Amino acid sequence: MAMLALKPPMGWNAWNTFCWNINDALIRETADKMVDDGYLEAGYNILVIDDCWMANKRDENGNLVPDPVKFPNGIKAVADYVHSKELKFGIYEDAGTLTCAGLPGSYGNERKDAELFASWGVDFLKYDGCYLTPGANTENLYRRMGQALRETGRDIIFSACIGHDGVWTWMKRTGAHMWRLTGDIFDSWESIDKVGFGAVGIEAYAGPGGWNDPDMLVVGLFGKGWVGEIGKGSTITEYRTHFALWAMLNAPLMLGNDLRIATPEIKEILLNKDLIAINQDDAGIPASRIPGYADVLAKPLADGRIAFGLFNRHPESKHMALSWDYCGWEVTDRIELYDAIEHKSLGEFVGSTTFRIASHDCKIVIGKRV
Ligand code: GLA
Repeated sequence: MAMLALKPPMGWNAWNTFCWNINDALIRETADKMVDDGYLEAGYNILVIDDCWMANKRDENGNLVPDPVKFPNGIKAVADYVHSKELKFGIYEDAGTLTCAGLPGSYGNERKDAELFASWGVDFLKYDGCYLTPGANTENLYRRMGQALRETGRDIIFSACIGHDGVWTWMKRTGAHMWRLTGDIFDSWESIDKVGFGAVGIEAYAGPGGWNDPDMLVVGLFGKGWVGEIGKGSTITEYRTHFALWAMLNAPLMLGNDLRIATPEIKEILLNKDLIAINQDDAGIPASRIPGYADVLAKPLADGRIAFGLFNRHPESKHMALSWDYCGWEVTDRIELYDAIEHKSLGEFVGSTTFRIASHDCKIVIGKRV
């Protein structure tokens, strides 16, 4: 088996917008969009069907059955189509007796399900933690599926989804390549801020092969869809900050919007090559707080540069200072700063500089010692 998820996985997942409203046509249209609109080229190479893809009973052999109305051609046909577009294909199951939406879980059928998924050409499994059998050892349930996946001989990224406190301290032991940190994200600033900044401080658990997952993106939902926060939604500025924070944290970048209706502004956020390069940097060191500076994060990059993120989480605009103390540089060093959102050099600075940052906005700059 190859080493998987050496960089944070990138792709699209149906849940945040579509919930149970998924079907064969939607998945094919989304695959087309991922290629035609440049998402695949930018690095988004996995298309994941979340919960609600299956019928509510296993067949007489105990195998999971695709919902015959949503997927009349079965899942393998959809997976084949996705693969024909040079994309990887992901699916969803659950370690308990039922999935979170109440469909058959994998508990007691881990090997059977892993083999079925491998036979369909599954490349990514999101494995949830609803309806766990009382008294069952959660780690062991995840170990069982991790083991079953490896025994299929197929390279399958194992995405653990159980947002219990402390999951990040042990989930890698099961073979998981990423692990959800919290309950579900919603499309509002409060939720983005809570989930995103909740991942700051536990970055040392994440690195090549196993990543902290603060949940899928809500960029571009505009208050619609399943986690649209009942029409509340976020602003373009907040979506940009959300994407930048996830990029800095080495979070998996799983798109959650309807790609068929994405506006140019949303595409610009999601296809920001500089931010994606920060997220996918070879060093795989997630951003962490610079001591003494609230909400200023630093992320060392493999080529010796450092990406800095200044996040204004407050309701008013404010000045935020950036200093290269505690980053491995001296305050006397001369640093050239490049703005990863404006895509331009800001010139050279010694010691520190300040930015005026609007409410819920951010500044992402890459520093290079000159
Ligand atoms: C949980 C997960 C979501 C989604 C649903 C599906 O809530 O956190 O991301 O997978 O289950 O039912």
